[in-house]
Amino acid sequence: MAGPDALNPVAERLKDDLTELATIRAPESGGWTRTVFSEPYRSARDWVRARMRSAGLDVHADGAGNLIGVLPGRDPSAPALMTGSHTDTVESGGRFDGVVGVLGALEAVRLMRENGIRLERDLLVVDFLGEESNDFGLSCLGSRALAGELTRAHLDRVDHEGVRLGDRYTGFGLDPSAVLGAAGDFTTNGLHRYLELHIEQGPVLEEHGSAIGVVTAIAGIRRLVADFIGRADHAGTTPMTVRRDALAAAAAAVLAVRQEGCGAPVHGVATTSRLDAEPGSPNVVPARVRMQAEMRSVDVGWLSDAQRRLAQKITEQAGEFGVDADLRWSVDNDRVPAHADVQQTITSITDALGIGWEAIPSGATHDAVHIARLCPMGMIFIPSREGRSHCPEEWTELDDILTGVRVHTETLIALDRSA
Ligand code: GLV
Ligand code: MN
Ligand code: MN
Repeated sequence: MAGPDALNPVAERLKDDLTELATIRAPESGGWTRTVFSEPYRSARDWVRARMRSAGLDVHADGAGNLIGVLPGRDPSAPALMTGSHTDTVESGGRFDGVVGVLGALEAVRLMRENGIRLERDLLVVDFLGEESNDFGLSCLGSRALAGELTRAHLDRVDHEGVRLGDRYTGFGLDPSAVLGAAGDFTTNGLHRYLELHIEQGPVLEEHGSAIGVVTAIAGIRRLVADFIGRADHAGTTPMTVRRDALAAAAAAVLAVRQEGCGAPVHGVATTSRLDAEPGSPNVVPARVRMQAEMRSVDVGWLSDAQRRLAQKITEQAGEFGVDADLRWSVDNDRVPAHADVQQTITSITDALGIGWEAIPSGATHDAVHIARLCPMGMIFIPSREGRSHCPEEWTELDDILTGVRVHTETLIALDRSA
């Protein structure tokens, strides 16, 4: 039987893994860039595959490009336990988002093996393909496919270079029909529980001095692509009163997005991330603008109402500029609650270890959203310095990661035994 400290993660080993993976990134970008379908991402995943093997896992990639490492349990017929996260990053992102969940799970596997702990069930450690949202307005490609939520229509979406998602898969060596067929491919016996360790990516845990966040729910995300159609005119001669300036209308929309996001009573945020104006000449009134925005909340009622209010406001304001607005909304994911039993298991373990925790909603999205369709899920958060994330300054102290991995390891063991 393992002694009380035997399940403490090995600091140097985890630090080495984090440091090595961080060296694999696009050299020309700032920060850490390993966007989905890129060459650095391909190299990083070769590295993850090798690390999974040396941790003692049987590794394969499924049809959707997820890397799955299996630690066989005693009972091959029992529904499997799943954990994992992602190793892709946003453009110029950080070193910890997603990575902590994958490398932390590998450390958990090593600790179990070193301590002779054999789980009853197979443990699947997954590095999900492409979790970060992309040009296709779609996050969590791999876990979405696993849950059967990736559709043929998604594959027909095009990025800003006009390339279909289906063709991006092909270019990465994946067969689009295998991607669509990946649902249920990972195990014959179904899933028992899913657990994900992740950095908070916000300021709450650090501000409150809590070492662990027990996630209550993950925010729903509505995405907006809006086309503003005005009229090109001479910028030097056309009177201000008769212009149909698409960029002026889009600017008003950007402020409306912000204003709506500031008005949420519980939790809600709204962000415009991109404006593309045409023709983009200094002496021409902008004729067309494409705007990309999103709204998120764990408050389902607010999110729906805010979307309706915002749509109305953007259209009305555009009309005042003589501009037509064509708004296309999509749901990236609905709000998903973490399962009460999994939350309870995490809190019991954390209490037993004498570690401080608090319940916390997630404004960021995660692969857990989609795996929740397959089995009860839960997430463990650890603090982010100054709440910074999706930027090179993203940082989590090694001690905080070690605490997270300890709780994660023991929670996996407890979930394996749970009914
Ligand atoms: C991923 O980090 C997201 O929340 O979009
Ligand atoms: Mn993430
Ligand atoms: Mn992210």
